Amino acid sequence: MGIVSPSQESYVLAAKELRDGGMVCFSTETVYGVGCDTFNEQAIAKVYKLKNRPTNNPMIAHILDVSWTNQLCFGWSDSCNLLATSFWPGPLTIVLPKTESVPKSACGGFDTIAIRCPSHPVTRALLTEFDSPISAPSANKSGHISPTTARHVQDEFGDSLTIIDGGPCEKGIESTVISMVNHPTILRLGSLSVEEIRNTIGAVEIKTNVAQQNSPGTLMRHYAPNTKTNLLSKEEMDLISDLDCVAITIQGNPVLTKQVFQMPSGAQEYAKVLYSTLREADNAGVSRIVIERPCATPPWLAVIDRLDRCCSD
Ligand code: TXA
Ligand code: MG
Repeated sequence: MGIVSPSQESYVLAAKELRDGGMVCFSTETVYGVGCDTFNEQAIAKVYKLKNRPTNNPMIAHILDVSWTNQLCFGWSDSCNLLATSFWPGPLTIVLPKTESVPKSACGGFDTIAIRCPSHPVTRALLTEFDSPISAPSANKSGHISPTTARHVQDEFGDSLTIIDGGPCEKGIESTVISMVNHPTILRLGSLSVEEIRNTIGAVEIKTNVAQQNSPGTLMRHYAPNTKTNLLSKEEMDLISDLDCVAITIQGNPVLTKQVFQMPSGAQEYAKVLYSTLREADNAGVSRIVIERPCATPPWLAVIDRLDRCCSD
């Protein structure tokens, strides 16, 4: 138990744990997940308990390829096909009405199910070995910062679970969630940009700040350090003079802080290190974390969404 290297042996053991109704943590290209058998209600209940997750917050079912959607959902349209052909395997999650065979508890009591086909070789090898969908939220306590390394998962849950270590996550923030139940609606901004989706299927509504009843995971303070965290403009950042504070900057240059984390100036590179930087800042032993707000241009929207939520009270 604890962190294990990816190997055929670890996949076989992990798949057995899943078949026995247990939980397994594993790397994906976005963030680490804590997974269980989608069709096993007791296993589902264990994940909610482990994460202290509200039971109305539905989980994403991970699949190996598009043919697995048949057992999970209805209403697979031409647009869904276009999305899957263009972006699967990858960081896109599609929400559709669920089939009878999926327990409601796996979907937060909803009649819909969120489905994602991940690209990470560790997730794919585990799915191949288990040969059935794996429901997996991010492997963190509910509301806390998502994990992007095996060590982060260990910091969240200790060594009681198997954690398959696929290295640091390539994307660093979660998948984009799109509902295809009616007209295409983005419920959570994420690794895959809205432009890419619009270029593929046309008009898409974005509902990530309002009417969140459709995706309760996006309702609350989320992705948050334990330390009080504020978002500042570059000008405000430049005035900070406080040794009991750490700064996460892009261009800002605070007068005085305990530590400065200088972040990459590109959105994708920034996203990749965001959660690990937030964890490091949280461990710095200060009373406050200040973060410079990036300019709200399209490539930054998902990062800004995470920053807004991690700073909200
Ligand atoms: O990148 C990711 O998506 C990662 C990796 C592990 O795959 N998973 C992840 O899971 O971020 P989680 O549970 O932390 O976030 C799932 C999000 C939540 O905002 C949840 O509300 C939404 O997906 N969601 C899941 N099922 C849904 C459904 N049936 N309808 C609407 N939203 C749903
Ligand atoms: Mg999460």
